[in-house]
Amino acid sequence: MSSLWAVVPAAGSGRRMASEVPKQYLPVAGEALLEHTLRALLACPDVRGLVVALDPSDRRADTLTSLADPRVMRTTGGAERADSVLAGLNALAEIAPGNDWVLVHDAARPCLPVADLKRLIDTAKGHEGGAILAQPCSDTIKQVDEQGRVITTLDRSTLWRAQTPQMFPLHALRDALAAAIEEGAHITDEASAMERAGYSVAVVEGPACNIKVTVPADLSIAEAYLTAQKAAPSVVTGKIES
Ligand code: CTP
Ligand code: MG
Repeated sequence: MSSLWAVVPAAGSGRRMASEVPKQYLPVAGEALLEHTLRALLACPDVRGLVVALDPSDRRADTLTSLADPRVMRTTGGAERADSVLAGLNALAEIAPGNDWVLVHDAARPCLPVADLKRLIDTAKGHEGGAILAQPCSDTIKQVDEQGRVITTLDRSTLWRAQTPQMFPLHALRDALAAAIEEGAHITDEASAMERAGYSVAVVEGPACNIKVTVPADLSIAEAYLTAQKAAPSVVTGKIES
């Protein structure tokens, strides 16, 4: 029997949010953003343990209730998101056997419904290369040159926006991500490291509410989703929660 673990990169500085407090600690719907994110993962009993990667200067983590959960461990993040994820994977690789799985989920996505997490887990388990949540592009997508002129219009029917969580065999992801970083690849999600290593990654349609809080305007959107989820969990996803 294999176990499922999680890594939450939370060591960013939130440059685009431009707030004094790093965005993962900004209050949303009455709690720190990171608290919502950790709770969403811990709500899933399949998650055996979770590593949060924190900035070395972080002094706010102790204020979070979820950090006291016995399933939660901490590690020190790195300069880039991929370095922080790798730090978490390295910590888990020491305690997790070869056939275990890992979810990687951005601290900055606090509105993940547990039903979507469960759908991802169910699909990923059947795929050697793992699976990710993603959304089909609804906008028309332009490729633009450095002068701000349209080069071409891409066929959006084949384009998806990757979300997290993303789920993979733990040791395969650790090896793929370590190799990609070593080779200087610009890695912005875990699937791209697996793709580089030759794996086929499955896509599971994720919910629109699973936004990445990036700029100040995203805070009120996340607040609205979280408030709606608290009031009626099935309204936001349009699905009946099991
Ligand atoms: N992250 C991390 N370590 C880094 C950079 C980012 O753990 N060195 C984490 C962030 O805390 C966030 C997730 O990776 O939860 C996604 O990154 P992003 O949304 O880009 O957050 P920031 O890097 O903090 O924001 P910005 O890019 O605006 O500075
Ligand atoms: Mg960033």
